[in-house]
Amino acid sequence: MNSLQYYSLFVSLFFHVAVSTAALNLQSIPFTKGFSPLFGEPNIIPSADDQSVQLHLNQYTGSGFKSSDLYSHGLFSAKIKLPSDYTAGIVVAFYTTNGDIFRKSHDELDFEFLGNIRGKAWRFQTNMYGNGSTNRGREERYFLPFDPSKQFHTYTILWTTQNIIFYIDDVPIREIVRNDAMGGDFPSKPMSLYATIWDASDWATSGGRYRANYKYAPFVTEFTDLVLHGCATDPLQEVIAPGCNAQLIASVTPRQKMAMKRFRSKYMYYSYCYDTFRYPLPPPECVIDPALRQRFKDTGRPKFDHKHQHHRFKKRSQINYGNQDDV
Ligand SMILES: *[C@@H]1O[C@H](CO)[C@@H](O)[C@H](O)[C@H]1NC(C)=O
Repeated sequence: MNSLQYYSLFVSLFFHVAVSTAALNLQSIPFTKGFSPLFGEPNIIPSADDQSVQLHLNQYTGSGFKSSDLYSHGLFSAKIKLPSDYTAGIVVAFYTTNGDIFRKSHDELDFEFLGNIRGKAWRFQTNMYGNGSTNRGREERYFLPFDPSKQFHTYTILWTTQNIIFYIDDVPIREIVRNDAMGGDFPSKPMSLYATIWDASDWATSGGRYRANYKYAPFVTEFTDLVLHGCATDPLQEVIAPGCNAQLIASVTPRQKMAMKRFRSKYMYYSYCYDTFRYPLPPPECVIDPALRQRFKDTGRPKFDHKHQHHRFKKRSQINYGNQDDV
């Protein structure tokens, strides 16, 4: 992963000696070496050289895989190509979770790609849950600045003890910096990496108005250059594999900060941090950008008298939760 040279990602070893990741060997892992089937096994199709895998969705089933190990912090990435043509109702998810082990107190970090009708831009969302904080969604939604079905692009989830960064190619698009007020909402238990394709006709595209159309099946998404970089950890023992005492530390350089700001001002169309009807007090990790706040006010929330506004838009924001705005 050449692009990581720009990430200013460091590993601090025994005495907190910072070493640039260029020195780290972030090799991709062969599919069957790092991953196991999750569901829809006949629709999981590894390449002959085991460096890539296709996930298919047809009228019978979607499909998905997960990393065989759980990781206590790490960098998870893949080059992904999304299904082309008519993809309304289709969701491709690339995420980390430990929900199958900690059912009531799970952690999760998501990229979720939400299909669209032909000719309309793909959209996606990112989200975070910690220690079962499922009643406190932290989603942000964005347009993709390119057609993700034409070429592979790299999607990265970086999770350290101090921060979480979502990247697309070289650009950090979202950073969550941990603070004490977040408590368990910041993911802390080992997680596996998952990738799935499935039919989410009920909500994915314009709140379910456009459903999956199996005339266009199979819907195919492809993953390559899969990277699992972290300490494989037994989640119940909390025992970290020997030789894995390196701790990931990541920071966003000033140049990357500018790129992130540009991406967010141009492509983000929803953030929980600016949804004052849902969260009158933004959750503690939110860093409010005055320009973004102004824009979200301007585009999404016209002013009425308080009572009326509250009633009307509370309903609206409840509808939006888990759904898609019409575009
Ligand atoms: C996580 O949640 C459990 C209850 O489900 C609670 O006992 C525990 O203290 C929480 N952990 C953190 C770090 O907040």
